Amino acid sequence: AEVVIVPSPQAGGQLVASEIARRIRATPDLVLGLATGSTPLPVYEALRPALAGVDLSAVRGFALDEYVGLDPAHPQSYRTVITREVVEPLGLDPARIRVPDGRLETIAYAGEVYEAAIMDAGGIALQILGIGTDGHIGFNEPGSSFASRTRVKTLTEQTRADNARFFASPDEVPMHCITQGLGTILEADHLVLLAFGRSKAAALAAAVEGPVSASVPGSAIQLHPHVTVVVDEDAAAELT
Ligand code: F6R
Repeated sequence: AEVVIVPSPQAGGQLVASEIARRIRATPDLVLGLATGSTPLPVYEALRPALAGVDLSAVRGFALDEYVGLDPAHPQSYRTVITREVVEPLGLDPARIRVPDGRLETIAYAGEVYEAAIMDAGGIALQILGIGTDGHIGFNEPGSSFASRTRVKTLTEQTRADNARFFASPDEVPMHCITQGLGTILEADHLVLLAFGRSKAAALAAAVEGPVSASVPGSAIQLHPHVTVVVDEDAAAELT
């Protein structure tokens, strides 16, 4: 992977946003892979000025993951977060931006439906990724198969604790999620992994430099030929 150390999350956001803007100018129906959580927010903020005047009506997007059993209208569902942080501020066509369907009624086939939609779109061109403190990408928790496709997973206690900040109380964090698999993620043309802050340093170093192992799902990126890792000094602290 190419590792780029940036002075701040804002600088990282601008770097990635300008690359995305360049690609959308060249390919107006670009298929973006969107992450949620705190890490990509500087990218989404920087995209607005970077894309000023660019026609975004054909841009397509696929979110990485969604909570299972959370009302899609809940303020912390990833459907809501993607709408609030990406679709509305940029004025994207909501019909072209998909999020895995975490509703219980349809969960049995939601993974297959999502995989088919990604395939119909011709695959994801550029996938934005964050990393969990336990090494997950998407919500592929430790032990996930490198061949996995979009499916339901159980969140680790560590991930639920990390994400409790978004909810009124820790026990409101859902137990399950539906996430693109590591196999799905590895099929994107280009991966951009972002990490900011000291809490990510160990997981980031294990993913980028450690043994390729299912116990560190982020290490799957080492199997991909086109990966850019964008980190601040704190997240880079344990790289050798
Ligand atoms: C979010 C996702 C997760 C997060 C990771 C880091 O869609 O797939 O892998 O990227 O949990 O979360 P933050 O950025 O909130 O530290």
